[in-house]
Amino acid sequence: MNKTNIDIIILDEIDSTNNEAQRVLDYKSNFPLWIIANEQTSGRGRKNRYWVSQKGNFMGTFVLEHKIEKQYIPHLSFVTSLALRETIESFNKDDKEIFLKWPNDIIIKDSKCAGILIESLKSNSDKEYLAIGIGVNLIKHPSKSSFKATSLKKEFNTNICRDEFLNKLNNNLLAKINIWKMGENFSQILDDWKRFAYKINENISMLLPTGEKIDGKFYDLNDQGGLILSYNGENSVFYAAEIIEELKLV
Ligand code: BTN
Repeated sequence: MNKTNIDIIILDEIDSTNNEAQRVLDYKSNFPLWIIANEQTSGRGRKNRYWVSQKGNFMGTFVLEHKIEKQYIPHLSFVTSLALRETIESFNKDDKEIFLKWPNDIIIKDSKCAGILIESLKSNSDKEYLAIGIGVNLIKHPSKSSFKATSLKKEFNTNICRDEFLNKLNNNLLAKINIWKMGENFSQILDDWKRFAYKINENISMLLPTGEKIDGKFYDLNDQGGLILSYNGENSVFYAAEIIEELKLV
């Protein structure tokens, strides 16, 4: 993807930029494009969670038309989180460690500062589209959340301009998508991702889609990005689960 002139739609207030991504298919024909909101009234996170979307933070969705093989679409969690991490790193004057929590959260000092919600869009044509929704706590963060939250202002002690952030993120995302090459170079993306993996080789608690919680050691990622957890004396691979906070293993 080598586009230099990508459309940016900036909206003052919208329910969710990912919802607008669905609607935009009816009135736009050139992709990729960005939808940016100053505020969202129904920001959505993964697992149908509410995403607190206050003014001053980054809320944006990258909409792309694609021909990605279905089984490779989850790769984009890793591609996007690496690009997002690199963008955040560029504002990191204090050299704080910035981690990637599997599969795609950004963590500083054990607190989440950004998240990604990737959704397939419904299309009336034979074309396929994806919405890559990205939320970054630039200046504010919720005081109550499922995982402890922070903001870049708090961690880096600096005000980040939303539009400067978008410009860097756009460049980094396009560059990472090019490196990934529709899945051909996913192993390179994964190797890169693992350098920053939150709690790799450590004990973690996982919440499974069934609601069950299990504790084990984050052993590795498999070649498709599944999390390999060692527990009960064996290794199991998870594709749809999340690392949660409450672990206390001895
Ligand atoms: C998560 O960590 O659960 C994902 C959060 C994704 C939030 C962003 S903000 C822009 C886009 N619009 C939404 O409604 N959600 C995503």
